[in-house]
Amino acid sequence: MTELIVAFDYPNGRDALALADRLNGLRWAKLGPVLYVREGPTLVREFAARGMHVFLDLKWHDIPNTVSGAVTAARDLGVAMATVHCLGGAAMLTAAALAAGDLALLGVTVLTSHDAPAFEQVVGRGVPDLGFEAERLARAAVAAGLRGVVASGHDVGLLREALGPEPWIVVPGVRLPGDAAGDQARTVTPAEAARRGATHLVVGRSITQAADPAEAYQRVLESL
Ligand code: C5P
Repeated sequence: MTELIVAFDYPNGRDALALADRLNGLRWAKLGPVLYVREGPTLVREFAARGMHVFLDLKWHDIPNTVSGAVTAARDLGVAMATVHCLGGAAMLTAAALAAGDLALLGVTVLTSHDAPAFEQVVGRGVPDLGFEAERLARAAVAAGLRGVVASGHDVGLLREALGPEPWIVVPGVRLPGDAAGDQARTVTPAEAARRGATHLVVGRSITQAADPAEAYQRVLESL
């Protein structure tokens, strides 16, 4: 069964918690850098106190010792899932995985804001196929001992085939049929992402910006 994660991309913790209280049975809450920098560990504890698993999506990319320390701190805080950048390299990924314990650590492969020319600029070589790059980085994440990866709905089928059945594949850029894509270039519906092999879906604006968020949340659950 594919799990639903709601991305609480709100400017303040009060509004985020008010919404969380309306989403009956929600198991996973994603907090990103905007909210976390404003509200810090207190907000993580408030979500956890409501019985939710917290996905702290800060996408760490630093030297191994620093990332390992950040993962340990997240674990001590009770965070259930967190992210690092696969481009941090094998030593960083391994150090992070060793620190993770029960925390599910995921590798971010290719940012959804990168197209091939932008990624070529970063890596300094030709990139004929971004799917190949995503697969290469996802394999590095799993080889280093990470629980899984974050991937676009476009690549999830390819990655599921490459990685086998075990690794988690967490898919953002999910939209209910008919919803605006906004800044997401490659969206998928919840049902489609689940069918292609996603273990978890991240849904933000389709729920948080809906006229009736609780109703949109129910529709996503039903479509799974
Ligand atoms: O509002 P929307 O459903 O597009 O939100 C998607 C969430 O997933 C945002 O919090 C965004 O930061 C996050 N995300 C993403 N693409 C990635 C990784 C995370 O959209 N590659």
